[in-house]
Amino acid sequence: MGNSCTRSAKEDVPADSSSPSRGISNDVLFTSGSRGVSSNDALFTSGSRRVSGSLQESSFGTASSNGDVNSSPSANDGGSLIAFSYSDLKSATRNFRPESFLGEGGFGCVYKGWLDNTSYKPARPGSALAVAVKVLNKQGMQGHREWLTEVRYLSQLRHENLVRLIGFCAEDDHRLLVYEFMSRGSLENHLFKGRQSQALSWSLRLRIAVGAARGLAFLHNANQPIIYRDFKTSNILLDNQFTPKLADFGLAKDGPIGDKTHVTTRVMGTYGYAAPEYMATGHLSPKNDVYSFGMVLLEILTGRRAIDRNKPQTERNLVEWAKPYLRDRHKVYKVIDPQIEGQYTIKDAQKLASLAISCINPDAHARPHMKDVLAILCDLQK
Ligand SMILES: Nc1ncnc2c1ncn2[C@@H]1O[C@H](COP(=O)(O)OP(=O)(O)OP(=O)(O)O)[C@@H](O)[C@H]1O
Ligand SMILES: [Mg+2]
Repeated sequence: MGNSCTRSAKEDVPADSSSPSRGISNDVLFTSGSRGVSSNDALFTSGSRRVSGSLQESSFGTASSNGDVNSSPSANDGGSLIAFSYSDLKSATRNFRPESFLGEGGFGCVYKGWLDNTSYKPARPGSALAVAVKVLNKQGMQGHREWLTEVRYLSQLRHENLVRLIGFCAEDDHRLLVYEFMSRGSLENHLFKGRQSQALSWSLRLRIAVGAARGLAFLHNANQPIIYRDFKTSNILLDNQFTPKLADFGLAKDGPIGDKTHVTTRVMGTYGYAAPEYMATGHLSPKNDVYSFGMVLLEILTGRRAIDRNKPQTERNLVEWAKPYLRDRHKVYKVIDPQIEGQYTIKDAQKLASLAISCINPDAHARPHMKDVLAILCDLQK
């Protein structure tokens, strides 16, 4: 491999081993040898062939697929995935060479590759379909679990604000994922790392917030709600038109149904974005995603990270630093990203700030539902 993937784990909130782990039966699919999977899994064939999207008996195929969170489902939303051979993905990425390297996360390294539009065989760079190939670091059960969870969900879900999974590779010990290529990279790069390029405008930020909210609302409004659990700027990818799409479903989880208000899980996620009640109890509900959405909204508004250890002590925690200003309509402009000065009205900035504050309400029940957040954002866009 051209690049050494050395980062071993993403900045997860540490798993609380004492917390109960009910409701995760779908997670425990790999044997300790890390090759075998449960028998109801149709994935483990090599070669490049299509397989159906039915990995588990699953109800999330009932989510709507056309961007309207309330519309009825279409048949076979899941479509199908390509099962790639390792050698094809190696060729598609030019042997995972450094020039193809896009970035690295907790899961592993990501490379740009090229595939033929119809045969999905490796193609010459620039000639056909651009893809992003994510290579799982070969270590630990958690990575395998996340790989399988990602395949399970993304094989079933189609929405304009969810990244499209084209296929996977599960050959010997190799575990890879093949996605549509998102040419503008992550929102994180644009907000925090892309200072050399032009800052995202106010209206683009709003459009990205609307799209991301639409993606989350779609997940929450499925017949079997899905909790995304890892909402953050690095997992919001942007295509050429800056359409945002949620990536990384490795931590996603079926949400509570019926009378249940939450499911109980190990605590996983990212510091700064995980809701306080979830960190304290492991109780997971769609309102945890709403909290993370509020944090991202604050980051979009201020151009600052949720947690920034490079800032002076008093400014490291975005919420603590910004909250006093956000609540005061005469001061709100002081915390808004100076790069977008003059592009918004104070009234709109206030509305966005108070929406963010309501999303990060410490009382989970008082937080709005994602569909209401979406409605407010759409209103602001008018
Ligand atoms: N489909 C894609 N198209 C283009 N770039 C991508 C794609 N998927 C991932 N990337 C890039 O690869 C890099 C690593 O992504 P990855 O999701 O592995 O890590 P992360 O989101 O930074 O961290 P985490 O592991 O916590 O999710 C990111 O910089 C992202 O921009
Ligand atoms: Mg990611």
